[in-house]
Amino acid sequence: MSKIPPHIIDDIMQASRIEEVIGEFVSLKRAGSSLKGLSPFTDEKTPSFVVSPAKQIFKCFSTGKGGTVVSFLMEKEHFSYPEALRWLADRYGIQLPEEKPATAEELASITERESLNIINDFARDHFMHNLHESDEGKAVALSYFEERGFRRDIIQKFQLGYCLNTGTDFTTHALEKGYKLEYLEKVGLVKTKEDRHFDFFRGRVMFPIHSVTGRVLGFGGRTLFTDKKVAKYFNSPESIIYNKSEILYGLYYSKGDIIKYDNCFLCEGYTDVISMYQAGIQNVVSSSGTSLTKEQIKLIRRYTSNITILYDGDAAGIKASFRGIDLILEEGMNVKVVLFPDGEDPDSYSKKASTTELENYIKEHTQDFISFKANILMKDGEEDPLKRAELIREIVHSVALIPDQITRTVYQQQIAQTFGIGEHIVTNELNKLRKNVVAKQLNTPEINEIPMEIQMDPSVQTQTTKKPSIPPGEVALIRVMVKYGVNEVQTTQFTEGEETKIKTSVLELVCHELDKDELYFSHPLFAKIHQIFVDGLSEKTLYPSSFLKKQEDQEIVQFVSDLESFNHEISHRWFTDHHISTRSESDDLEGTVMQAIYSFKAMKIEDRIDEIRLRFNDENLETEEMMELLAEQMAYENAKMKIAEKLGRIILR
Ligand code: CTP
Ligand code: MN
Repeated sequence: MSKIPPHIIDDIMQASRIEEVIGEFVSLKRAGSSLKGLSPFTDEKTPSFVVSPAKQIFKCFSTGKGGTVVSFLMEKEHFSYPEALRWLADRYGIQLPEEKPATAEELASITERESLNIINDFARDHFMHNLHESDEGKAVALSYFEERGFRRDIIQKFQLGYCLNTGTDFTTHALEKGYKLEYLEKVGLVKTKEDRHFDFFRGRVMFPIHSVTGRVLGFGGRTLFTDKKVAKYFNSPESIIYNKSEILYGLYYSKGDIIKYDNCFLCEGYTDVISMYQAGIQNVVSSSGTSLTKEQIKLIRRYTSNITILYDGDAAGIKASFRGIDLILEEGMNVKVVLFPDGEDPDSYSKKASTTELENYIKEHTQDFISFKANILMKDGEEDPLKRAELIREIVHSVALIPDQITRTVYQQQIAQTFGIGEHIVTNELNKLRKNVVAKQLNTPEINEIPMEIQMDPSVQTQTTKKPSIPPGEVALIRVMVKYGVNEVQTTQFTEGEETKIKTSVLELVCHELDKDELYFSHPLFAKIHQIFVDGLSEKTLYPSSFLKKQEDQEIVQFVSDLESFNHEISHRWFTDHHISTRSESDDLEGTVMQAIYSFKAMKIEDRIDEIRLRFNDENLETEEMMELLAEQMAYENAKMKIAEKLGRIILR
């Protein structure tokens, strides 16, 4: 975990393509010179997330988040700054300097999240090693996978492994390696019973569960025995890095094809994903280890709005697909269903059939959800009018969940046709049910959970919505420094009554002006940026905005990329709030800079005058002090007038 040298950071930033990295999380479509998609930070349905390949930055207009590719990874994958850089270096083939062993200090600073990730990576490698290298692994586990027909390259690709049956092999190795017992228990790899520590997954074949970028978040472990008394699968417990309901097995491998084919196959198990993938159908995920959740559907929606459910045709599979259909419709997505013959899942079916046969089966058995429900329910209800009515109601109920009215209307027509009933009857039923759906959605628990007194109390309201105030004069000046800092301007200097024109950089000019009057930024973020510039100048370096965007402090990165970006598309609150015009300023750079400096000074003087006024209120003020204050105030008022004069000239010019 040694520090990455600045020139390597440069190389990494140079090589990285933000559109490629973010493209792994969201499907991006071209919109002018930018790319647009659904925000991965919210569950929005209309895209407000913009990536600029030219500027190598992103902006999420629904959350206000923005920054570079590094900021994105830190935000989305919870990487630390060096982790994000390392991940990019790995992805773009940038050689990092030899790792020095971590010092105790560095180890202590590693967050819990990082520690858990490191342990899972170690475990994955250890289990893979067991599978391929140990006698036991080869004899029982590798042969098991081979019997199931998993190809070697697929076993490698999905990083399948094996936890030896000794009961302590993993635990011993992990403790030897120095990993904390507490963390090993947190990720669920080690269990402790009466002071004895043992492997939770002993004797099981291991399926690592990956994040979208391929980090190992948890494991599923399958027993090799057919004994019905042992649970077929053990799964990692929930932890700060593993939230079952928000993860889909296989997405790391399938996201590219999901975007490409604009459809996602959804199955039930680990082995289904692997077998489908091996058969060449690679836009496939499963909700392994949990029944399908809303969050998982939202995750898919970032890549496509089409889901095809592939479930076992048994009663449990049918029940699960009914539930899945409603959840998917509710999220405003399109859903189709393929049922496999009773007792078969995509895994077992693909073993019996060739790839072409599997593809054909899927093609021929894909049904829209209305036909699917009708076919299942019609079997015994066809002749009985009451049952038939019940069935129609059941289908209309699903349609009522669809948020978009036009889509609802299309389905409404289909129902009327399928069952040979008047469309107005369907409309009536639909309207009735739709009202219930909307009422239910409005009655969300989040609102109800806020106690009434707080909902009613206006002071609580304002407290929670209050944002830290940002002095407009400060924003304007820091903006000029960031945006035009390295540019050259001409300024007029008066030395001993002589007027000379000198050329200088904007940064030097501003920093000199502030230094001269001992003025500082009060906003902490701007103060930090100012300090970086001052440090640079003391080493005769003018830091461009690209330098700021490489900082570890992502608040700085976000601010700078906000400044650079997307002003035209949607103005950012910093500027709209303060009515800062950005019109034709580069044409008269000197004027722009001087105006920003003088406005800043005027504002600071105003602040001091206010302070003095406050001190006048002090009843115990001595006459002498009073005179001093007055003199001070006069001086400031004087300066204020001079500045106003200068400002006037600039503005009039
Ligand atoms: N599952 C689980 N715990 C169990 C059984 C199942 O977590 N005791 C999850 C697993 O993620 C599994 C999925 O549910 O992949 C589907 O279960 P099942 O169809 O029983 O398993 P398969 O994946 O088909 O496994 P196999 O083909 O090896 O029987
Ligand atoms: Mn199976």
